Amino acid sequence: MIPRSQRPVVFTLTTLVLAAGLSISVSTAAAADRSGKEVVTTICADCHGEGKDGAPRVGNTVDWAPRARFGLPRLLNSSMEGYRKMPAHGGHPEVTDLEMTRAITYMVSGGRSPDPLKPYAKVSHGTGEDIVKAACGNCHRDGANGAPKIGDKDAWLPRLPKGVEELVASAIHGHNKMPVRGGLSNLSDIDIRAAVSYMLSQSLTRK
Ligand code: HEC
Ligand code: HEC
Repeated sequence: MIPRSQRPVVFTLTTLVLAAGLSISVSTAAAADRSGKEVVTTICADCHGEGKDGAPRVGNTVDWAPRARFGLPRLLNSSMEGYRKMPAHGGHPEVTDLEMTRAITYMVSGGRSPDPLKPYAKVSHGTGEDIVKAACGNCHRDGANGAPKIGDKDAWLPRLPKGVEELVASAIHGHNKMPVRGGLSNLSDIDIRAAVSYMLSQSLTRK
């Protein structure tokens, strides 16, 4: 889903893409979001199973109640940012915002609540421009390691036919020498989408 605030930008991009004479594929996300159970068993249970370093245990209401009373959006925020011995994204930055949300629901409810269809909260670290400056510019400004350069239309055009959502997905999950989330494990999907939109908007306008 494209967040409301991003829609005008994406619309403009679509227009640019069409103007460039490329067919745009309406792609679904690269990898479907996993269920809460799957994420918890493969990742979170390493610590949340036995309660390593004081991690609240899966399905243990006594452990979770004092944390959950501040609301699930807050739990999503703290677990994506990292919180004391809880690493950002549980140390697996390729986990999407929706997967984190589902994993939290699963752990707090002990698997009794259904998987949510959208993330509890929109975690944002600023505008697309801010994110690019902080996290993406190092490589994308000068084209280090073959990164498509910001402002270089020819570098971006061949990547566009796969669709904007697919580009966002490769930035979230990593792509060859492009590190997962640009190497900043606390960035959210919203941040990555904003950054990709910004880079495209700076690159596709005719000079
Ligand atoms: C390396 C160990 C480790 C892994 C892996 C891990 N956690 Fe944690 N987590 C912790 C610890 C330790 C705490 C308790 C931090 C504290 O309160 O001091 C915690 C706390 C939390 C909290 C409560 C935050 C709050 O605001 O109170 C949530 C939510 C959470 N983890 C979600 C997850 C999810 C979802 C995953 C899997 C994607 C995950 N964790 C994977 C160690 C881990
Ligand atoms: C350490 C260097 C580095 C950083 C930091 C980095 N990138 Fe990249 N990026 C690359 C490289 C190299 C490629 C080219 C990978 C390829 O296609 O082989 C790339 C490719 C991409 C692509 C095109 C992917 C595709 O499917 O064609 C997108 C989108 C992208 N990066 C977004 C971002 C965003 C957003 C950030 C910041 C959050 C970021 N990058 C930070 C190195 C980096």
